[in-house]
Amino acid sequence: MNIAIIGSGRMGQALSALFVEAGHEVTLSNSRGPESLDEMVAALGPNGHAAEVTDAVAWADVVFLATPWGKTAEAVSVVDDWSGVVVVDGTNNRSAPGPDGLIDIGDNVSSVLVASYVPGARVVKAFNSTPLFILAPALGANAGANNAVYIAGDDPTAKSLVADIIASIGGEAVDTGDLATGGWLQGMTGPLAGVMEMLTPADARSRVEAARAALDAGVTTHSNETRSNNMAKVALSKSIELNADAEEVWEFVSDFAGHASWQPHIQSIEMQSNGERKVNFTRGDSVFDRIAELDVAGKRLAYELVPGQATPLASLLAAFTVRAVDGHTEVEYAITVEVPDPMQDMARVGIGADIDGALAGLQERFSA
Ligand SMILES: NC(=O)c1ccc[n+]([C@@H]2O[C@H](COP(=O)([O-])OP(=O)(O)OC[C@H]3O[C@@H](n4cnc5c(N)ncnc54)[C@H](OP(=O)(O)O)[C@@H]3O)[C@@H](O)[C@H]2O)c1
Repeated sequence: MNIAIIGSGRMGQALSALFVEAGHEVTLSNSRGPESLDEMVAALGPNGHAAEVTDAVAWADVVFLATPWGKTAEAVSVVDDWSGVVVVDGTNNRSAPGPDGLIDIGDNVSSVLVASYVPGARVVKAFNSTPLFILAPALGANAGANNAVYIAGDDPTAKSLVADIIASIGGEAVDTGDLATGGWLQGMTGPLAGVMEMLTPADARSRVEAARAALDAGVTTHSNETRSNNMAKVALSKSIELNADAEEVWEFVSDFAGHASWQPHIQSIEMQSNGERKVNFTRGDSVFDRIAELDVAGKRLAYELVPGQATPLASLLAAFTVRAVDGHTEVEYAITVEVPDPMQDMARVGIGADIDGALAGLQERFSA
């Protein structure tokens, strides 16, 4: 099949590699022109190509959108006529991981908005709900039983074409419904979003059924990120300077499983098989959290609460950032939580103490 991809960043590259491996012809495009993609195309081999967006779309049997939310309308606007084109929308209304990265689109469903940018196109939402660093390694040559990929759309023929493409890369499409309902279920504020593990198709299907039943019963299980009534956001950030090598400090700080050894508020950590942590606090309670972003080049580890737990926190996003500054190393530890209004003072004191304890632990570790 001829597959055009608009956007050649993380998603464009991950999908193009899978598609080429499956024998498809792939044309990548971006805003900087095909020459800027020479290296990427060479790495893809003879089935990889690059073109201007308009040429890529005219050539393709199916077009994947892999652009940042804020650039998507502009990216597709260069094409005059989208009538009948099968468009796979992999975008999310998000600028970064975590609660602060969500882009407010009111009551709109993101893929319904995207469909309005490509009038006449047959839009299928897919590949949006799981981070690529989890999704891509579980497909292609490595594909196993945990290979479900959610899809939503209004056009059955387009959906079946996309399901075939997913099957060609070792996945199994799991239908979440039409673009408005399924698109919402698997969109950023829906209950199927933010899946930090690959699911079996049976498991994915039962989650869809449960989510649809809850929806029919009037239970709106928005992710915590949209809960703002009577909630307060408390953000604290502190830094420390260490006389140590930044690489060495980063290696220590980024060991997600090892935080109990130097953060006094953590009694122990039990790593789960899906990469989540069960964090047992010294004060007696426990939560599950998970990595939201691991930026090795930028030396930044961000982690967040796994949604749906019995905790007064509607959300938590914490990040360690390590920087080499003038011969020493600076470590910043920032935590943002959303709590019910009456708890905000307590939360500020609590996270302040946790940050102080962690930074003191680092000071002690690197003071020699
Ligand atoms: N990364 C993930 O794990 C993940 C998972 C699920 C969904 N998503 C969603 O997938 C989309 C892409 O994410 P990403 O992580 O791949 O982003 P990314 O790495 O920032 O890549 C975005 C790409 O879009 C291109 N682009 C920007 N403006 C454009 C325009 N006007 N016309 C054509 N191309 C344009 C950029 O290239 P130029 O700047 O050179 O044009 C770049 O190649 C986002 O909506 C994201 O929310 C990402």
